[in-house]
Amino acid sequence: MAALLKVSSVETLYFDRIYALFGVSLEIEEGEIFAVLGPNGAGKTTLLRTIAGLLKDQPKKGEIVFDGRRVHGWQPESIARLGIVYVPEDRGLFRELTVAENLELGLWGRRDARAADDLAAVHRMFPILRERAGQEAETLSGGEQQMLAIGRAMLRRPRLLMLDEPSLGLAPRIASLVYEALTEISRGGTTILLVEQNARLALGVARRGAFLETGRVVLEGTSQELMADENVREVYLGVAATDEAAKGWRQYRKRRRW
Ligand SMILES: Nc1ncnc2c1ncn2[C@@H]1O[C@H](COP(=O)(O)OP(=O)(O)O)[C@@H](O)[C@H]1O
Ligand SMILES: [Mg+2]
Repeated sequence: MAALLKVSSVETLYFDRIYALFGVSLEIEEGEIFAVLGPNGAGKTTLLRTIAGLLKDQPKKGEIVFDGRRVHGWQPESIARLGIVYVPEDRGLFRELTVAENLELGLWGRRDARAADDLAAVHRMFPILRERAGQEAETLSGGEQQMLAIGRAMLRRPRLLMLDEPSLGLAPRIASLVYEALTEISRGGTTILLVEQNARLALGVARRGAFLETGRVVLEGTSQELMADENVREVYLGVAATDEAAKGWRQYRKRRRW
């Protein structure tokens, strides 16, 4: 399968001196769900923001190629116009606008005949958004806000949908609903790059993934390979192979194999 997005040896710094990404390389294939996992502070958000062109003068080094075009250094609007749509961790909603108004903004600038069909498709995927149409976004539950953010993103007709911790703060049942929707979106042909701390949830839907730790990719593979990896099982999935492993993180730091 061809790579839709190719990130090569990307280095991103804050304030020109604090390294957040130390040479990250990843290839996201057309049509797949790819999960970037790792602990807090690993650089997951920085990676998505770098791809979206939201960090000025970054990446400092490396290349980002989307659909054959080198897009690093482009303005965020130009990158978005290629079909890279980013749902940030805070969902990026207009909190004082209604659900319907937020969705209208997703349709902003679209004059094509499919706009109404796309809105209908979002309502089919998340019927609650029709029920809540007149309600201000800030009055929605966390799960409903995430659905609104994803629904609005779909109205941009993304080729690559990037999501930052879509399950964050959601009850497990609601997080599962959101992930079911992502699976459905993927079946519709949209490529998805998602970032999560919840490895179990993300690897449950992703085809492939990578673990980031302190700005570096430490492990990459199919979801099956990652779920079978001993370190991943101990540290991220909480499956202790031995009593010693159950002692946790400090042991892992000493014994880890990457
Ligand atoms: N705006 C910022 N200014 C300075 N440092 C930042 C900023 N945002 C993130 N960082 C630092 O970059 C590193 C990666 O952060 P981040 O990408 O947010 O990680 P993650 O999303 O995996 O939790 C962390 O050390 C964090 O402190
Ligand atoms: Mg983050």
